[in-house]
Amino acid sequence: MTDLFLLIMGVQGAGKGTQAAYICKAYNLLHISTGDLFRAMKTRTDPLAKHVIATINSGALVDDETTNAVLQDRLEQDDLKDYAGVLLDGYPRNEAQAQWLTGYLNSKGKAVNAVLVLELDLYSAFKRSFGRVTNADGKAFNLYSNGEGVQWGFEKSPENVFPPRLTATLKESGETLKRRVDDADAFAVIGRIEKFLDETRPVLPYYESLNLLEKVDADQPIETVRKQLFSIIDKRKQ
Ligand code: AP5
Ligand code: MG
Repeated sequence: MTDLFLLIMGVQGAGKGTQAAYICKAYNLLHISTGDLFRAMKTRTDPLAKHVIATINSGALVDDETTNAVLQDRLEQDDLKDYAGVLLDGYPRNEAQAQWLTGYLNSKGKAVNAVLVLELDLYSAFKRSFGRVTNADGKAFNLYSNGEGVQWGFEKSPENVFPPRLTATLKESGETLKRRVDDADAFAVIGRIEKFLDETRPVLPYYESLNLLEKVDADQPIETVRKQLFSIIDKRKQ
């Protein structure tokens, strides 16, 4: 297995995926987002995939057995040797997953090198997810922070519950911008925040006791957060 093994943790919208992209490019790390692995199952029709998609759309956590198996499968694919390490985004999500990861890495003679924690208040976390849309190229816009050039609107949700759903169209091209299903549903957004508070945040003292925790204020410009993370990684790599 590869050398550097990093975790990036934080509430939804903290910027895990945004920063993971920069880090993995700069340090040649394999970016493994369990959320992305689960969302990739949406084209499958088998019962397991259907169950996973329904779970993530509701904002609940996928069960540990499925999650660990999906992660292990990804960690054991051949392309890992092409990378200088791994950055896990969105895993572990609870204490059982943290223990599983420690045991798995131990069995390979490895260990986590650092846990990057993006700290964000919960109001901002809600806005970053609820207001987030992307175009076909993956470019992100946000109603609350980066909405230039986008025509924003609201329409009734399919279940006709409050709040209405956000709609977004690029003014210039007319492209309809897409939202993640779990972002579109305000109850799912809140559910994800609650899961973070109840199950994921309690994992942090475990990593702190191992002297692995590195906290960064995520309520700063993306470039500032990036620089702070890079300097932490440079220090941890030595
Ligand atoms: P996952 O995909 O991990 O979603 P999440 O944790 O809810 O986090 P997000 O991806 O929404 O946010 P992010 O921190 O990546 O922020 P981003 O960079 O996009 O998980 C989805 C679901 O999968 C879970 O709910 C669960 O069901 C399941 N799942 C996943 N892992 C699991 C596990 N281990 N066990 C069980 N179930 C699991 O940024 C958000 C927005 O903010 C963007 O618009 C971005 O442009 C903007 N932004 C980012 N940084 C800044 C900044 N500094 N300033 C201003 N705007 C910023
Ligand atoms: Mg993400």
